[in-house]
Amino acid sequence: MKTLVIYYTRTGNAKFAAETIATELGADIEEVIDLKNRQGRLAFLSAGRDAMSGKETEIAQTKRATADYDLIIITQPVWAGSPTPAIRTYLNKNDLSGKKVALFFTDSKLGQAIEKTKALMPNSTFIAELTMPAKALENKEEAKKKIAEWCNTLKPA
Ligand SMILES: Cc1cc2nc3c(=O)[nH]c(=O)nc-3n(C[C@H](O)[C@H](O)[C@H](O)COP(=O)(O)O)c2cc1C
Repeated sequence: MKTLVIYYTRTGNAKFAAETIATELGADIEEVIDLKNRQGRLAFLSAGRDAMSGKETEIAQTKRATADYDLIIITQPVWAGSPTPAIRTYLNKNDLSGKKVALFFTDSKLGQAIEKTKALMPNSTFIAELTMPAKALENKEEAKKKIAEWCNTLKPA
């Protein structure tokens, strides 16, 4: 099963998770880069507003074609109980119809993040999801173990 890990990160947690997942599964990996400045207090506020209101953003050109993969794993932080604008934009630009999809979220107050993310891929088959609070990602060895266990459930029997 050819697998692609797609991730957006602002402060590195989703990047760590995505890299761990890709290593565990021998998957390709691609970062979605938000071209809007998301650093600083004002940017933090607008980031939450953008996410909650379902606003898209400008993202850097991605290189991998989802058509080449069977399973896509989307890894991102929860923003205001929602998917990030970068992942929303990516999913609006890339067709995941007919693909198997697994979702990884970092942080704990999920709100509607899972449902809202799934709604962006109405023709995909969701096979798994994992949520890890930022705190749980601080202990890298423990976090790696937990992510590896989850990855084992994604491997074909
Ligand atoms: C704009 C913004 C909104 C956030 N909203 C939530 C939220 O609704 N629930 C939550 O549990 N964490 C929320 N967080 C915290 C992040 O999801 C958390 O710190 C995550 O681990 C960061 O991942 P990253 O390092 O990959 O960017 C928010 C962070 C930002 C920047």
